[in-house]
Amino acid sequence: MIGEWLDIGPVGQISPGNARTLPVVGGEEIAVFHTLDNQFYALVNKCPHKQGPLSQGIVHGSVVTCPLHSWNISLKTGEAQGEDKGCVPTIPLKVDAGRIYLLREAVIRRSAA
Ligand code: FES
Repeated sequence: MIGEWLDIGPVGQISPGNARTLPVVGGEEIAVFHTLDNQFYALVNKCPHKQGPLSQGIVHGSVVTCPLHSWNISLKTGEAQGEDKGCVPTIPLKVDAGRIYLLREAVIRRSAA
């Protein structure tokens, strides 16, 4: 269905191992990650510990290490790994013909909340 997915631009805008942030009007900023093995993930840009900016963390495998206190957060589930407990919402994402799409409903729902 048209309109289900929000086109946020070409995959080339994020180099492997990096992230970019996407402001959401009236909602929480989203971080979009490109892993070294060429996967893309989107999470709310707030560490479940003390809201550190995950987009500035270090990406390894499908995990990002928070820049503030080094919690490891799964990019797939948003959950803290190891002994740490907490979870950050993930945003469904797909790549199609070289462009990144986020599930519109997930982005809109966040901004309505
Ligand atoms: S805020 Fe992320 S580890 Fe503390």
